[in-house]
Amino acid sequence: MRRFGSLFGLFLFVSFVVYCKTYSTETNGVGPIDSDAKSQYKIALGRSLFYDPMLSRDTSISCAVCHKQDLAFTDGLPQSIGIKDRKGTRNAPTLTNVANRPYFMLDGVNPSLEAQITAPIQEHAEFDFHILLIVERLKSRPNYVRLARMGYNSEITNWVVFNSIAEFERTLISKDAPYDHFIKGDSSALTPSQKRGHDLFFNTLYCGKCHNGPDLTNNVLTNNGLYEKYQDSGRMRLTHHEADRAIFKVPTLRNITVTAPYMHNGRFESLEEVIAHYMAGGAKHPNKSELIVPFDLTKDQRTDLMHFFESLTDSVFLNNPAYSEIEY
Ligand code: HEC
Ligand code: HEC
Repeated sequence: MRRFGSLFGLFLFVSFVVYCKTYSTETNGVGPIDSDAKSQYKIALGRSLFYDPMLSRDTSISCAVCHKQDLAFTDGLPQSIGIKDRKGTRNAPTLTNVANRPYFMLDGVNPSLEAQITAPIQEHAEFDFHILLIVERLKSRPNYVRLARMGYNSEITNWVVFNSIAEFERTLISKDAPYDHFIKGDSSALTPSQKRGHDLFFNTLYCGKCHNGPDLTNNVLTNNGLYEKYQDSGRMRLTHHEADRAIFKVPTLRNITVTAPYMHNGRFESLEEVIAHYMAGGAKHPNKSELIVPFDLTKDQRTDLMHFFESLTDSVFLNNPAYSEIEY
């Protein structure tokens, strides 16, 4: 009886293995897929969705219209423009190393990249659409259905759309700017002028108190004194607390030379204007950080600072073929 029991157990085990093999063959048509391959299918799906205008109500724009690779995934506009030329109120931030951010949006309202994606989908001045309607549309595309099977062993669902785009965003990693080589110990990676700019930024001035770490941001929400009165209430939009009025996330400065115009509303067209703003010590806003105070710089020092900004530009990232438009 015992022997029969263990034989029966073996039979069950073998049947289970055969069932699993058959099941995975039936679902994806190519046999079992290991987790690395699965993740490549997820990224491939997310990458093509990132470039697909089917995500917007009138199929006129995709994520990439506002997040262009050659501009480090920004759009070059002060405020982004959505479907039917609807004007938004904020500047599109870079997606360089976006996976390193602990929360998303200029006011930090979104806790994950997956959750962030619902914002452009529903926003009136962006896609003005709905995830369920997107899922319905995508189901008519055999290649998307196939990639969802391969990556998720699933049909297309809300989660497949959110997660695959987020997986693609997590691949947007910049680590080849001259500054990266410099912090890894190659002191010849920066020119003498860039080194002087680096020293100004981190030691002489206070910039590095907020713009620090590998991405030149401490990820803190604060105010850098752009106006006495802001049109955009910043984080207060979420919390309704006066202490959060005009509070914005300290942005990364990676690829800063290609992401003009600057600040939450694109107020400054150039980095020279940004430097002039900080030199003047900013406007008197009640929530302005105490760190922001006036200072003087000679013309040569301003040039050094500009050269330091150039050392943050990563042309490998800006031209990486793995991020370019792709259709499946
Ligand atoms: C119409 C232009 C537009 C479109 C389309 C658009 N975005 Fe954005 N994106 C923005 C703007 C503007 C912000 C800042 C919004 C805010 O802070 O309220 C932003 C913010 C983000 C952020 C937050 C980054 C950070 O550092 O906090 C991510 C991530 C992002 N977008 C990804 C996407 C993805 C993925 C899509 C497509 C599903 C998309 N965007 C579509 C303009 C756009
Ligand atoms: C108290 C923290 C803090 C300090 C100190 C600080 N910044 Fe900023 N910086 C910010 C915040 C917050 C923003 C975004 C403000 C907004 O969008 O309205 C910003 C934005 C910027 C931008 C524009 C980034 C973009 O993508 O739009 C640049 C460039 C910049 N800072 C450079 C500097 C320099 C140079 C210094 C030193 C002179 C400095 N910052 C000091 C908090 C700080």
